[in-house]
Amino acid sequence: MIKIAPSILSADFSRLGEQILKTKEAGAEYLHIDVMDGVFVPNISFGAPVYKCIRKLTDQFFDVHLMIVDPIRYIDAFVKAGADGITIHHEACANRIETLEYIRSKGVRPAISIKPKTDPYVLERYLPYVDMILIMSVEPGFGGQSFIPSAIDSTRVAAELVRESGRDIDIEVDGGLSAANAGLVTSVGANVIVAGSAVFGAPDMARAISDIRQNGEKDYLKLLK
Ligand code: DX5
Ligand code: ZN
Repeated sequence: MIKIAPSILSADFSRLGEQILKTKEAGAEYLHIDVMDGVFVPNISFGAPVYKCIRKLTDQFFDVHLMIVDPIRYIDAFVKAGADGITIHHEACANRIETLEYIRSKGVRPAISIKPKTDPYVLERYLPYVDMILIMSVEPGFGGQSFIPSAIDSTRVAAELVRESGRDIDIEVDGGLSAANAGLVTSVGANVIVAGSAVFGAPDMARAISDIRQNGEKDYLKLLK
């Protein structure tokens, strides 16, 4: 089954709590929380104190996407603020395996992400250490960009590597996704769909979430047959 992860980067922060409750009512299983440091990516978003406040509002899975250099420095803070899963970037530090093991030691699900131009075969080395792979389908840094089609191939490669490993690892895709193109990545094995502007920019958020789910699931089910 597909899981939907609305990215709160595209939310109206003056009404953050209210908007999160709406994603929950609409059945979004995850909340995708984009943390940016202005160094790894050319943008600064927010940190642990912000999502710590929304932790009280919802039991949705907090899917924390760290676009920061040397993430190990902040794992304790992000865990304490209520992360359920923490994703680090292959391109963000040297001690990636150590960081993933540290995340797991804190009882949080570790995940690794690659940027669009990174060779997806680098993912192989992380398979024993992660519960999720995040394929970026835009250059990280901003919401509202267009989907980069090469992410379809990267997702396909990731799904093959996961299958060969025999491990149960989720595959999430992030960037430029909507009901119109979610099927492109679920048809090759993605099962967690991040959507920012397609959810928070929609006139009817509940409808947007259910359309993404329906279209994504249709193609995912074909793959399982
Ligand atoms: C980009 C972020 C994404 C982004 C998704 O760096 O990681 O999560 O907010 O937003 P949309 O769906 O608008 O591309
Ligand atoms: Zn993200």
